[in-house]
Amino acid sequence: MPGAVPNPLRGALDRRLPRIAGPSVLVLFGVTGDLARKKLLPAIYDLANRGLLPPGFGLVGFARRDWEDQDFAHEAHEAVRKYARTPFREDVWRQLSEGVRFVQGELDDEEAFDRLASTVHELDAERGTGGNYAFYLSLPPKLFPTVVTQLKRSGLAEPEPGGTAGTTPWRRVVIEKPFGHDLASAQDLNAVVDEVFPPSSVFRIDHYLGKETVQNILALRFANTLFEPLWSRNYVDHVQITMAEDIGVGGRAGYYDGIGAARDVIQNHLLQLLALVAMEEPLSYSADAIRAEKEKVLSAVSLPEDLSTGTARGQYAAGWQGGSKVPGYLEEEGIPSDSITETYAALKLGVDTRRWSGVPFYLRTGKRLGRRVTEVALVFQAAPQQMFPRSDVSELGQNALVLRIQPDEGVTLRFGSKVPGASMEVRDVSMDFTYGQSFTEASPEAYERLLLDVLIGDPPLFPRQEEVELSWQILDPVEEHWARSGQPDQYGAGTWGPESGQALLARDGRHWRRP
Ligand SMILES: NC(=O)c1ccc[n+]([C@@H]2O[C@H](COP(=O)([O-])OP(=O)(O)OC[C@H]3O[C@@H](n4cnc5c(N)ncnc54)[C@H](OP(=O)(O)O)[C@@H]3O)[C@@H](O)[C@H]2O)c1
Repeated sequence: MPGAVPNPLRGALDRRLPRIAGPSVLVLFGVTGDLARKKLLPAIYDLANRGLLPPGFGLVGFARRDWEDQDFAHEAHEAVRKYARTPFREDVWRQLSEGVRFVQGELDDEEAFDRLASTVHELDAERGTGGNYAFYLSLPPKLFPTVVTQLKRSGLAEPEPGGTAGTTPWRRVVIEKPFGHDLASAQDLNAVVDEVFPPSSVFRIDHYLGKETVQNILALRFANTLFEPLWSRNYVDHVQITMAEDIGVGGRAGYYDGIGAARDVIQNHLLQLLALVAMEEPLSYSADAIRAEKEKVLSAVSLPEDLSTGTARGQYAAGWQGGSKVPGYLEEEGIPSDSITETYAALKLGVDTRRWSGVPFYLRTGKRLGRRVTEVALVFQAAPQQMFPRSDVSELGQNALVLRIQPDEGVTLRFGSKVPGASMEVRDVSMDFTYGQSFTEASPEAYERLLLDVLIGDPPLFPRQEEVELSWQILDPVEEHWARSGQPDQYGAGTWGPESGQALLARDGRHWRRP
């Protein structure tokens, strides 16, 4: 673990001691933004509150606002009080805020970056941060190249030798999604980043991978014997991966329009879920082994031959949701009235491997859908023959294993059971594992886990550039097809998407689960 002070009493595999970040500075670009306020600053506090940040930790915020250090500390305090997961403790906050600084400036202003460099160096000297810096780019994506170039120019990207305990200090850069908007732009962005930071120092955020329930896919499949024998075309009929939101585009209009549901969610979160569900067992629980298996799966993904029937897209129309009247996408503030950006996207994909050949993976995501839910459902084949009369099994569906990513985190197994009574009626029942009932400890927020991993330098939960590029390769032809296809289908707020989304499965004699 470069940069951290090695503890001679601690074995690397000893789980009794928590993983704690070493001395370091986190520079947060875009610190006044939505993500920083709602997720990143609260996560930093939660880590401090759990004792996972060292005393030699510094936080430097950078944004255009004309703030002093105290203004920033006040805003951060408010954000933490409002959004932190763990209880607010004044003493923890006081200790953390002693290492908090703010630098005001434009990202293309060299002088501002020179001030940032001096602030970071001063903090280093005052707090003993070991000369280790992580740069978090919580910014509109078009600004990523500017910041990376400025980090190089100002010398901040280059570690100076002579860190704590004789180690060379580290530099890490954390890049928020989206990483590009198609394959070509992802490659261009990577070329800029690659010139400044070695691949091992680049942490691309896909916050889904920070979720306990997503990591649990690996545990469920590879730490058990029960599921893996069923995990193939021999028993699985198809797989459904759903990420539904009940909210509309809200204040994110500027970001969302022109990007749409597929680029925002399918290219990263849903294809990562698909990769974890479909991959072979990695040789070990190491970043390289896991990423290699995910890349194999993503390389094996195939699109339907006819994209007009194998994909669906929609835009939410005005309607009622949760007892309130809500505007349609085209009436939202900041959205052009002729926008063809989709707020619902569904795809049917194949995974051309021996394990999955012929098993469709249906992916869907959308805004203003029936409820907020993310799940992966493996729907099993029906029993090859039934000895029970048809009338006794008319209420029996296909068996399913549902990985509930959020909310109500857990796993559900759905299978048929005899209804008590004199007849042999068989009906679907569920067996549930819920985190809340099985564990006393609450799950950390995804950003807590990911920020800690960045500071520790632990990369398994961050996709490599190869994965990003493979995902764009899958999506690019779909986006090109949609760009030629005019307006997306309209769907009512609070429904489960447009007719074309239902037809995507109905054509195959299947239907979407109601999550
Ligand atoms: N919000 C979310 O829930 C969410 C979820 C997943 C991923 N993301 C990603 O996270 C990143 C940040 O999202 P966000 O929602 O926080 O965006 P946001 O609310 O629009 O904030 C953008 C930040 O960038 C700063 N900024 C913009 N232009 C600048 C410039 N020219 N020079 C210096 N600073 C500038 C803004 O600061 P000032 O205006 O104060 O200068 C603000 O702090 C994006 O890449 C987004 O895709 C966000």
